[in-house]
Amino acid sequence: MPSPLHGKKILLGVCGSIAAFKGCEFVRSLRKLGAEVTVVLTAGGERFVSSLTFSALSANKVYGGMFADEEERHRIPHISLSRDHDLILIAPATAQTIARLSMGMADDLLSAVVLAANIPVVVCPAMNTNMYNHPATQHNLQNLTGYGYTIVQPDSGKMACDEEGPGRLADWDDICLHLECLFTRQDLAGKRVLITAGPTEEPLDPVRFLSNNSSGKMGYALAQSALRRGAEVTLISGPTDLAVPCVDIFARVRTAAEMQNAVHAHFKNQDILIMVAAVSDFRPAHYAKHKLKKGIGELSLPLVANDDILLSLADHKDRPFMVGFAAESENHLQSGQDKLQRKNLDMIVVNDISNINTGFKSDTNAVTLLHRSGQQVSIPLTTKLDVSMAILDEIVEVLS
Ligand code: CTP
Repeated sequence: MPSPLHGKKILLGVCGSIAAFKGCEFVRSLRKLGAEVTVVLTAGGERFVSSLTFSALSANKVYGGMFADEEERHRIPHISLSRDHDLILIAPATAQTIARLSMGMADDLLSAVVLAANIPVVVCPAMNTNMYNHPATQHNLQNLTGYGYTIVQPDSGKMACDEEGPGRLADWDDICLHLECLFTRQDLAGKRVLITAGPTEEPLDPVRFLSNNSSGKMGYALAQSALRRGAEVTLISGPTDLAVPCVDIFARVRTAAEMQNAVHAHFKNQDILIMVAAVSDFRPAHYAKHKLKKGIGELSLPLVANDDILLSLADHKDRPFMVGFAAESENHLQSGQDKLQRKNLDMIVVNDISNINTGFKSDTNAVTLLHRSGQQVSIPLTTKLDVSMAILDEIVEVLS
């Protein structure tokens, strides 16, 4: 499934902040997702990055002045720009532009476009910490929220002006998620979703561990899709190489016991639990403090069973909607059905790991969903992101 931004026409307003250079990367990222980008540079923005750079990167004309140039005499730029786009993103947005928008002024092209627009507006503030914290700026931002604009909160950290605190332009991943939410149905808004992902590792000695082939891709895809659909997401992940999505809470764990503790710690008040993690069923009975040396001939490795995390929550009185995953290499549906019942689940996602396209490290998957009611739904081979959307569709349908 392409990004919800695919085919969308985005107007990017770039203001006069040291973070204006990041606008170049935003143009590239948006185009990579299949969006068309038109840049409007404020007078301040033009001082930091030339319009030539933006026109080369966007493959589009860059706008700056209020009035049309010779070849576009028939167009009124602020009206046509506001009509021709699906969304306005202002990144970076300076205190000055935020104040202009708050007052409803239209004394430069960007503010006039915003005033004339009937499309979503996303504002990403970037400025000195004191300017950001000033009651005037905070009041202006509140006004913008009142107008229905989306504000992407700035990050905290070391600023170009050597001060530390809030005011740093948000990361692209965070901004992108806000944009994608605007073009995705928000049917999980207000829902809290707890997802586990990846393998666990059970250490044997300081250099060795027992683990499995799980990459975490399916669980991370579910987290990303739940975020896009408006959920508040907690992701508990075993060791993976994947970039962490912009979840509300992220917990990195290593062993099955750590994963169990984390799940128990975050379980309360969740609406949905999706246990995608491939939790190790066993761990070495003894952990050797020092590296085991060869030369001792045969070595046998006694193992003890880990708790079953889903089973430990099966009879909880305030349990959320509980979904398990069953990675099977034979008798898929029967094994899935057994686990659904044994673990008292509301739904189980059965996954054939014997096929290279549906296995652990693959970017694609094909699954069968077994509902508690006995209903069975097949999701044919597609990307893990698509599969995650289809799983969430099923959950939303049952919950509603
Ligand atoms: N699971 C769990 N705790 C464990 C093992 C598994 O909560 N200690 C969860 C998994 O996250 C998954 C579901 O149970 O959602 C099924 O996991 P799976 O490994 O397929 O099943 P097991 O119960 O471990 O059975 P088996 O390994 O015998 O197939």
